Formats: sequence, structure tokens, C-alpha cells
Amino acid sequence: MRRMIAGNWKMNMLADGAAQLAGALRRGAAGKGGVGLSCELLVCPPATVLAAVAHALLGSACRVGAQDCHAEASGAHTGDLSAPMLRDAGATHVILGHSERRANHGETDAVVQAKVHAATRAGLVPIVCVGETLAEREGGWAESVVAGQLAGSLPHGFEGLVAYEPVWAIGSGRTPTEADIAAMHAAIRHRVGPSIRILYGGSVKPENAAAILALPEVGGALVGGASLDAQSFLAIAAACPA
Ligand code: PGA
Repeated sequence: MRRMIAGNWKMNMLADGAAQLAGALRRGAAGKGGVGLSCELLVCPPATVLAAVAHALLGSACRVGAQDCHAEASGAHTGDLSAPMLRDAGATHVILGHSERRANHGETDAVVQAKVHAATRAGLVPIVCVGETLAEREGGWAESVVAGQLAGSLPHGFEGLVAYEPVWAIGSGRTPTEADIAAMHAAIRHRVGPSIRILYGGSVKPENAAAILALPEVGGALVGGASLDAQSFLAIAAACPA
């Protein structure tokens, strides 16, 4: 399966910075062979610049996703954005159930699953995030926590991607051991079947990307901090095994 390197810009980038980063990605991806890159590229900017970034990357090897969507297609939901709106703005994918949304917005597995349905109905490819906290890992429950999140968040017949992101590895500079990443990816594979790509996320950088991306069942990476710099994001993409 072709790997995917997805950038999650989170709540970063004003218009100027987003345009510069998109331009650098467009040039960089083309320079590395464009569609000949061994991986798929995706960036998920904040919604305010999504349309501009999608426009800037039109026809390039890099696609554009959103960071969240509402479970309904339209209606009285002040401040929310629906999947059809994000599709209309140029998104092809949407990150759902990121741990920052689960923690800061109280998103449950049931909420995430409703959003997966909404995304799929709108023609967006969902990237569903799962992952344990440090206390859960230290308690020996990491696999059962992730299994529960998968069971609750993924509808029957799910089509999309899963991102395994240990909460304690996000933005911390810490990563699980390669053996732990491989073990969790194998456990997820066992539950989601053969056709779902499983990304690893949490402090992926150019320095550790090659080792992580070469692990069995790792189908790519979801990259936060290092995706805000075109050079490091492209270096991670270049670390994908052919
Ligand atoms: P990080 O974030 O790469 O900055 O750790 C990953 C994520 O939250 O998706």
C-alpha cells in the first residue's frame, strides 16, 4: 500500500504563512518527482485558509484535508463547519477524533462515529485518530483502550484511514519504541482488516521518520509540528520506503 504523509497544521498559520508553506510544498513535491513521490501527500490547514491552500495546491501531488467536521450537513450550529462545506472548500480528507478534540471538546467515540458517517456521505475520506494516554500505557491498557476506540469510532464497513497517535507522544518529542509502535499497529491491523491504511502520529520528525515508516503495518505518518516547515515535511515524505 502506498504510504501517506499527512500534515496537521492545527491552529497555526495566517494567510501569508499558509500561502508560503503551500507554495514551498508545491515546488518541493514537484522537485521530488511530483506524482512520482513514493508516498501520498496531504496537508490539513485550519479552515480559514483551507480554500486558499487547496487553490494553491491544485494540480500538485499534495492534497488538502480538514481537521474536523460537524456530524450534520447543515443547520443551526453556530461556529461549526459541515463536511459538505469542507468538500466545497477543496478538502478531500478530514481528520476526526484527534486526541486534542477528544480531550478539549469532549468528543466521544459515538460523536466521532457520527462524524465519520457525515464525512463519508460528503465524499471526504475520514482519518480517524486513536491512542492511549501515558497513564493508560503505564497501566498496561494501551491495546484495550485503542481497541475500544476503534470499536466505538469506526462504523461497520469503514472506509478511510486510522491514525495511531499515543497522546503522550503528541508534541512532546517522545515516541514509543519501535517494538511498541509495531505491536500496536499489528493489533490495529487485526481489528480493521487488510485494506485500511494505519498512520503513526506523535513527534514524527525527519530524524526518526525512516525508522518508523519502515515498520510493518505503518502505512504513513500524521505529522503535527514538523509539518509547519516545508523542508522537514518533505524530508519526512522522502523517508518513505519506495
Ligand atoms: P506532533 O503532532 O507531530 O506535533 O507530535 C501530531 C498530531 O497531533 O497529529
